[in-house]
Amino acid sequence: MRDADALALLMTRKKNFALPQPFYNDPGLFQVDLEKFWYRDWLFATPACDLPKTGNYITMQVGAYPVLVVRGGDGKIRAFHNTCRHRGQRLCSSTKGTNPKLVCPYHQWTYELDGKLLYARDMGPEFDASKYKLKEVHCREAGGMVFVCLAEEAPSFDLLAERMQAYIGPHKLDDCKVAFESTIVEKGNWKLVIENNRECYHCSGSHPSLCRTYSDSPTMTAMDGPDSAAPEIMDHWKRCEAAGLPSRFTNKADFQWRLARIPLLNNAESFTMSTKAAVSKRMGDVPFNDAGSLLFYHYPNSWNHFLADHAIVFRILPISPEETLVTTKWLVHKDAVEGVDYDLQKLTEVWIATNDEDRQVVEENQYGINSPAYEPGPYSTLVEEGVIQFVDWYCDMMGQRLTGRSIMAAE
Ligand code: FES
Ligand SMILES: [Fe+2]
Repeated sequence: MRDADALALLMTRKKNFALPQPFYNDPGLFQVDLEKFWYRDWLFATPACDLPKTGNYITMQVGAYPVLVVRGGDGKIRAFHNTCRHRGQRLCSSTKGTNPKLVCPYHQWTYELDGKLLYARDMGPEFDASKYKLKEVHCREAGGMVFVCLAEEAPSFDLLAERMQAYIGPHKLDDCKVAFESTIVEKGNWKLVIENNRECYHCSGSHPSLCRTYSDSPTMTAMDGPDSAAPEIMDHWKRCEAAGLPSRFTNKADFQWRLARIPLLNNAESFTMSTKAAVSKRMGDVPFNDAGSLLFYHYPNSWNHFLADHAIVFRILPISPEETLVTTKWLVHKDAVEGVDYDLQKLTEVWIATNDEDRQVVEENQYGINSPAYEPGPYSTLVEEGVIQFVDWYCDMMGQRLTGRSIMAAE
């Protein structure tokens, strides 16, 4: 699809209505999404504690780009194109692992963990290894969260880094470990996955276990600003901030990301069936069990909950117009012992169920949208404000990136 066609389609969108069908299933539009968002924006890769030691790596596929994220001997986490500089073989094919050096499986060119080519067999005396370093991908870490960006020139990360450090910092993710992780494929467009995440209009009908502890009231998640929210939330902010936990709503002006701490229902402590903490060792400096959930979303690929006893981080990656990979990691204090300080099933059951319930919702949503009879319907301005905000962000960015200027949706 040419940019002009994408722009023409974008102009047909009605404000506060769902997007036209091609946005959810057209291969050309999917390619435009990759180029205008996934190859340009900062993307959440993994929590740094998932790479605790030298040589630990994860891989992720972003559209056409295989990416490798690895901790070096100097402790620094770097990201590279996961493509050998000899004849292009993918260097690491597993989703995670450990390697003292990065050895290409094809002809064994061997790279240092900082990307330098150390060794290339039988390349002759003229060969200059310094010309064949792995190509770097932008990589930043803040508050224990690692982000990567494929753009030649990455957008600024500084404000986000500062806020993540302040808000997520007290949870001390670097003193955590990954207790469990799951990866599922949802047969739906990536935007449907995000849209579904940005509202709880569906929660009472879909999420019986999550609804024990997470309020589906829009006033609990749709905050207007750092000094404007439901009284219950403002009280929670005061209490948490007095205890040293930055909590009030903070965001990027264009709403690409937001951090805010909300109370759980009836002073619930964690996302468990019992509503009590799942892990007896609290995270970092969090001073009480009922600190609620620090919500953090970042478009286009992440939402997260940081609780007093554990954290759950979510990463999505687009596979095709109608398939999205969803990876969830549960983090607990690194000294918490399974079977002693936490029971893995109790820790994970609510979000394993919730993820599967969301998968079904998204897949059914995709089925219905694929019908020739589909027509974009209206969002509720009362309970789907988060969806409206995401779709507005998406359309505004798409417009800007297609034209170089701001495009407002047709009223
Ligand atoms: S392609 Fe990697 S060593 Fe040949
Ligand atoms: Fe959901």
